[in-house]
Amino acid sequence: MPAATPQPTRTRTGPGRVNLIGDHTDYNQGLALPMAIGLGVTVAVTPTDGDRVVVTSDAYPGEQADLPLVPDADTVIELEPAWARLVAALVLLARPPTGLGVHVAATLPRGSGLSSSAALAVALAEAFGVEGDARSVAVLCREAEHRIGVPVGLLDPLVCAGGRAGCALRIDFATGATEDVPLPGTAAFVVVDSGIRRDLRSSAYATRVAECAAAADRIGPLGLAGPDDLVGLRDPVLRRRARHVTSECARVDAFATALSAGDLAGAGTVMDDSHHSLATDFEVSTPELDALVASLRGRRGVHGARVTGAGFGGCVVVLAEPGALDPVGLRHPAWQVEAVDGTVTARERGGGAVPTV
Ligand code: GLA
Repeated sequence: MPAATPQPTRTRTGPGRVNLIGDHTDYNQGLALPMAIGLGVTVAVTPTDGDRVVVTSDAYPGEQADLPLVPDADTVIELEPAWARLVAALVLLARPPTGLGVHVAATLPRGSGLSSSAALAVALAEAFGVEGDARSVAVLCREAEHRIGVPVGLLDPLVCAGGRAGCALRIDFATGATEDVPLPGTAAFVVVDSGIRRDLRSSAYATRVAECAAAADRIGPLGLAGPDDLVGLRDPVLRRRARHVTSECARVDAFATALSAGDLAGAGTVMDDSHHSLATDFEVSTPELDALVASLRGRRGVHGARVTGAGFGGCVVVLAEPGALDPVGLRHPAWQVEAVDGTVTARERGGGAVPTV
């Protein structure tokens, strides 16, 4: 019998993302402006003869997860080890035809608000051969997160799949429309990691989602509401949550307009306003994050700073003059980030190229 042809390993990298502005708007049919970044998660997927999916990860040396090729939809949420649950959920939804060895390696810090889960999910989707445009890949990846009990929106997987080099991605979650917003060369974005880790399963993220849903029951989708609609909300907490979402959506376009016009000081002010709204109306900042944002803002050449992503910890994004903020000289881990292609954009450009990490 001829020997079976060895199956090649497929390696794909999913980029992380930094959201420049527009947080907690995605699950409210609002607006956001994220970009995919050159820190990411790389998966190496090798087909095997068996009917198992064996997962290893640089983050868990010496451990291995042995998953069924057809995971049980009802128990994937309880599967052990917990770090392999997202892989199991992707296997469940993408249905790879053969057993697999999967190895995961990352340059992106986990739990830091830079979307390590979506980066892993979109990388797996590509490596498993999932076809389709950025939106359909993103919907599959979001479904995988929901299957393991994390009630996230579409923001992260959509930009990790559909981002474009040199551009931020304006997303309108009400219509599904996306638009590339070129980033001016006069703007440098630096991401600073507060070191405070959070887990969206245990943070108040789900509470915020529920509060926004309760407000939307009374006045309709918050991303489509205006300031006048807020008077319909008697509950002061719900009114503040809604006020954040409506004002944040307005800030997304104010920020994009200022950026495109080269008004970086104006764009920075809008970022500062966003942080204030997230801290006061939406209550997803912490004293440590507020202090970090304040100290960064005080530096020469810095236009603005805000917590990015879900909040409760994680990273701050800073808009600065190029060269003004040296990431190496900061007390916290920090990176100057450039906008890179998402996985689907890279595939569509041809050759299955992956962003460089
Ligand atoms: C997390 C979620 C996103 C989004 C942000 C906040 O990153 O995964 O869906 O809600 O928080 O903007």
